[in-house]
Amino acid sequence: MLITGISSGFGKHIASFLAEKGFSVYGTCRKKCEHHAKVKVFELDVNDKEAINRAVQDILIAEGKIDILINNAGMHVGGPSEVVPDDDIHLIMQTNFTGFVHTIKAVLPAMKGKKAGLILNFSSIGGLMGLPFQGYYSASKFAVEGFSSALRMELRPFNIKVVVINPGDFHTNNTLNRRNYFVSGLDEDYEQQFRDSLRIIESDERGGWDPQTMAQKIYKIITSKNRSYRYVIASFEQKLAVLLKRILPDVLFDAILRSHYGIK
Ligand SMILES: NC(=O)c1ccc[n+]([C@@H]2O[C@H](COP(=O)([O-])OP(=O)(O)OC[C@H]3O[C@@H](n4cnc5c(N)ncnc54)[C@H](OP(=O)(O)O)[C@@H]3O)[C@@H](O)[C@H]2O)c1
Repeated sequence: MLITGISSGFGKHIASFLAEKGFSVYGTCRKKCEHHAKVKVFELDVNDKEAINRAVQDILIAEGKIDILINNAGMHVGGPSEVVPDDDIHLIMQTNFTGFVHTIKAVLPAMKGKKAGLILNFSSIGGLMGLPFQGYYSASKFAVEGFSSALRMELRPFNIKVVVINPGDFHTNNTLNRRNYFVSGLDEDYEQQFRDSLRIIESDERGGWDPQTMAQKIYKIITSKNRSYRYVIASFEQKLAVLLKRILPDVLFDAILRSHYGIK
């Protein structure tokens, strides 16, 4: 099994939990990172396609197969859409979307050869609705959603399952790692609006669930005989928001989200 991004948050907890359960777990960290003794680590960036290919080849030499891929590594950018620098727009799309594609393309030949495989792609509630001041994050996760739906159908004849995970708010390093951009002098009201919304975003995340809960859920999902295509792992309110997004007209749903984030 290969899990990307195990230096912190979900990745760290999932890797340790599954290693304890007896899975052979390989994980990736960008820099040297602390990890569970049973987890084998590759130092790589998911934007480095060659490094991913090399890691996958090494796992195949050692294990003869990669039966599960958990595409977890991801980053976050916050701010009014007009001020987020182009470099960060490219980086978040590359990391959160193209990074997933690189790892999937690297493991697919081996999974197809065995006619078996499971790919878990981490999206977000923000992949099911556009989150204000997190537009590029939502865009990257919408890309994961569209790609995963297409891939699931393509890979069905090879008995490779594609599952999307939509976490709600969890307290991980996600909050600290988010690169936030402020308007700085352009428009005071706009900047204040972002600061007010950011307070709500961060308070939701800090009050979120423990990432260990995610590790337990992922274990249940990968060992389940009747797997769904999607798992929304979130509070009752966030699950309700997902349902409302599906059934309400956009104008009504936007009003609910605006009110949550204090946008006039
Ligand atoms: N926490 C939440 O509330 C939440 C909600 C919805 C979805 N998610 C998704 O869940 C996944 C995990 O996030 P998390 O909450 O556990 O956040 P986290 O604690 O910040 O962990 C993110 C992991 O991704 C790694 N990473 C980032 N950029 C990378 C790159 N270019 N190459 C390789 N690894 C990279 C990080 O490594 P470094 O230490 O090197 O940065 C870290 O190991 C992400 O896809 C995120 O979008 C989280």
